[in-house]
Amino acid sequence: MCGIVGYIGTGEAYPVLISGLKRLEYRGYDSAGIAIAGKTVTLYKRKGKVNDLVDYIDSRPVAGHLGIGHTRWATHGEPDDKNAHPHRSMNGHFILVHNGIIENHRRLRERLTARGYRFRSETDTEVIVNLIEYIYLKGHVSATTAIRLALKKTIGAYGLGIICTDEPDTLFAIRKGSPLVIGIGEHARYIASDAPAIMEYTRKVVYPEDDELVILRPDDLTIRTLENEFHEPEINIIEQDIGNIEKGDFPHYMLKEIFEQPASVHDTFRGRISEKPLSLHLGGLFQVLPKLTKADRIIILGCGTSWHAGLIGEYLIEEYARIPVEVEYASEFRYRHPVIRKDDVILAISQSGETADTLAAIRKAKEAGAVVLGICNVVGSSIPRETVAGVYTHAGPEIGVASTKAFTSQVTILTMIAMLLALKKGLLTRQQLHAFIQELQNIPEKMQYILEHNNERLRILAEKYKDVNNFLYLGRGNFFPVALEGALKLKEISYIHAEGYPAAEMKHGPIALIDENMPVVVIAPKDDTYDKIVSNIREIKARKGKVIAIVNEDDDVITQLADHVVKIPSTSMALSPLLAVIPLQLLAYHIATMRGCNVDQPRNLAKSVTVE
Ligand code: G6P
Repeated sequence: MCGIVGYIGTGEAYPVLISGLKRLEYRGYDSAGIAIAGKTVTLYKRKGKVNDLVDYIDSRPVAGHLGIGHTRWATHGEPDDKNAHPHRSMNGHFILVHNGIIENHRRLRERLTARGYRFRSETDTEVIVNLIEYIYLKGHVSATTAIRLALKKTIGAYGLGIICTDEPDTLFAIRKGSPLVIGIGEHARYIASDAPAIMEYTRKVVYPEDDELVILRPDDLTIRTLENEFHEPEINIIEQDIGNIEKGDFPHYMLKEIFEQPASVHDTFRGRISEKPLSLHLGGLFQVLPKLTKADRIIILGCGTSWHAGLIGEYLIEEYARIPVEVEYASEFRYRHPVIRKDDVILAISQSGETADTLAAIRKAKEAGAVVLGICNVVGSSIPRETVAGVYTHAGPEIGVASTKAFTSQVTILTMIAMLLALKKGLLTRQQLHAFIQELQNIPEKMQYILEHNNERLRILAEKYKDVNNFLYLGRGNFFPVALEGALKLKEISYIHAEGYPAAEMKHGPIALIDENMPVVVIAPKDDTYDKIVSNIREIKARKGKVIAIVNEDDDVITQLADHVVKIPSTSMALSPLLAVIPLQLLAYHIATMRGCNVDQPRNLAKSVTVE
């Protein structure tokens, strides 16, 4: 949550800050602000989105070769102008932007107040900037030393961009638990919460470790630890195509990302299938495969959509590899007293690789001695760096706040893991593996077919149901997590209340809600429980509910019963969630756009939740 960006170089800072902030808006959009160091350091900040800030700045002066910027997802203090970043220290020596939460901010604020400091905002951030300044003035130390000493007293998570007005040729940056990337350009250095914010300027980047203070000048980059040791920066090259972070001809990133799924799922398995003999390889798990195969139990951790993918993983791994699996919300796991045994393996799933609860849960599991693996999308993010091994999903950058293509790529990886484990345990024959791989290779084409043949149908359905207040989503087996995901997509982007339920649980509560105004989306491609779900649909119809059913193309029974059917191609049981979820994504998308909602930036949400 919150995005930070910064520039120092021989060019102008302003355009870099604004384009960077626009790319980071998915991280929060409660307010935006910049500080530009020209003759003096000028701050512009505004409640609302980056475009509101740009309108506000209009023709005010923005010249300067050093600057920092921020887009906010409010935690401490309302989303208003005064709480917007950047924050300036009381005597004006330091200005900074912050992504994260300072946990001991109250205590520090009290101490600074007792020493005469006055605060303009309610933020935890203003405490850091004043603490740095206090140490700087009191100790007569350099800016570097003041920052190091202040952060040693700070508990919490931060990604910081810092300007010291007495050192106008230097930009400081540091992270702990929040993401940060440093870009190296021609006579220019960049900082950002995420690489897409600076990718149009440079592909050469450094990912600092926690508490490495990065000191940047136009032609220089040095790293010092809080203990004042020098560290050599490790330079990485970003390979991604810039087109991946543009909207192209699509009206929204979310729609673009839904339509990218044939390609993104293909990218997920591409390079992991070898033809002769036909087999699966997950290179990142190679070393830990024996441990995983022998695991007493696999505990899957995640939040939001990643947790839903984990539930599908549970069904698949238990069904095919017969290893017990538990799926936990990372936010619960981190504060419970979970039993973690030495032969348990933890699998953390995260699109961003930065979700604070998931990171904290990983650390807890590591402290208990567990082997922790990751399934992540963002290369170089914190989770892959904090886990012993793992798999990248390679879905490409996901910008829409509501996750779509990251989900199908996570499910693809989990399906591959389930099959690989089943094979290693002798529970899957080579022939069965071949059949699975062949069908996996057909998935992109089948996804494409759904997108081409059902988009318009779902748009028409959305028109019909866009004004209802409630939706119910039902599924059985591994379509139950798909129902949860469908309901989440709808509620997060359209603000319609929606619930996902295992279809058979309907009679223990939700059935009371059903009347002629209640649309019920039933995910019912043919599987072992098809007859059961037919009965559930009859129960809904008996109470006059409106049934929208996702069925296979050869379906006849439900087609007769439901009010509307959306037909998708058949595939194997293991792979069917990948197809069934697409109509649900499209339905949510069309309903939300028809209701005038901002689907890429839904209210109160952010994509990368780096606070608890
Ligand atoms: C936020 C996003 C969701 C995402 C969840 C977990 O809530 O809006 O789309 O599923 O965080 O994020 P992660 O990056 O860990 O998958």
